[in-house]
Amino acid sequence: MSDRFITSTLNKADTEFDLSLRPSKFADFVGQAKVRERLQLFVDAARGRGDVLDHILLFGPPGLGKTTLAYIVGEAMGVNVKSTSGPVITKAGELAGLLTNLEKGDILFIDEIHRLPKAVEEYLYSAMEDYVLDIVIDQGPNARSVRLNLPKFTLIGATTRSGLLSAPLRSRFGLANRLDYYTPDELMRIVQRSARIVNVDVDDDGAAEIAKRSRGTPRITNNLLRWVRDYAQVKAGNRITREVADKALSMLDIDEHGLDEMDKRILETILHKFAGGPVGVNSLAVSVGEEAGTIEEVYEPYLIQEGYLKRTPQGRVATELCYKKFGLKPGARQGELF
Ligand SMILES: Nc1ncnc2c1ncn2[C@@H]1O[C@H](COP(=O)(O)OP(=O)(O)OP(=O)(O)O)[C@@H](O)[C@H]1O
Ligand SMILES: [Mg+2]
Repeated sequence: MSDRFITSTLNKADTEFDLSLRPSKFADFVGQAKVRERLQLFVDAARGRGDVLDHILLFGPPGLGKTTLAYIVGEAMGVNVKSTSGPVITKAGELAGLLTNLEKGDILFIDEIHRLPKAVEEYLYSAMEDYVLDIVIDQGPNARSVRLNLPKFTLIGATTRSGLLSAPLRSRFGLANRLDYYTPDELMRIVQRSARIVNVDVDDDGAAEIAKRSRGTPRITNNLLRWVRDYAQVKAGNRITREVADKALSMLDIDEHGLDEMDKRILETILHKFAGGPVGVNSLAVSVGEEAGTIEEVYEPYLIQEGYLKRTPQGRVATELCYKKFGLKPGARQGELF
């Protein structure tokens, strides 16, 4: 019965292309050195003791490798990874089905764990801590609680919105890891690795160009590479140089700094509707039609890191770089150009 709640082992958006590029060992996972070392140590220690791995939380913006790491950990531990997602589990009974079907040591990967319904989440507490579930069966006068013993398992939770996790849930993870945006150098190594796998020739400048436009995100790197590879195949004898990458990516209207539509909408809204700020995140959210928390945890970190935006106690403020990017004079009002 529980199979219904196992979502595919990978995201729907992940095509075969992504699958072949997804690293399956720590050694192939580029970047995030601290997180990788910590996880590796955690795995080595558990294996050395012949013990089951403690629960792990992975958080950070989309496409940085949370799902990938969960599978790498599973592979390194030599256990099964069963994958599901917060919004898919709607009842405690469904969670019970999943948990009771695990074998000792198995990993249950819950993606978007912040979207687990509260009532389900509360059952996880005892499952994670004591490997038991107290389930109430029947209703009214017949209602009674039964205790299910669970195999000792590892929960790996992933979330883009760590701010939405309750304190009790968060505290039950033995190890919490934040993934950060990748450096251009790391992304370049990912381009080179992926290019080798899909058998296309890319020179250093070509790889650097793709890396630069990847918004710090390996998933975007691979998507861009896929496009540039097609372009190179049709127009450039299967060889990616800076010029080829540039031409191919220009065809897609990819921003030369890798900003996406929502990034640009956020920045332009601050510049034009709020005269450069400061603007509170809630007003900004209403204006761009996105949740405030998503802006804070998914979009802003990159914009701040790249220097387009500042968080101040009064709200978000556009930086000089941001004005420049849109061809405006710092402090200029809408429409006033250099
Ligand atoms: N460190 C890395 N080295 C090489 N490739 C990577 C790395 N991290 C991620 N990738 C590639 O990027 C793709 C996206 O990674 P993944 O699906 O693990 O991200 P995610 O953090 O789970 O994203 P989401 O929050 O959207 O679920 C993968 O298919 C993989 O090929
Ligand atoms: Mg994922």
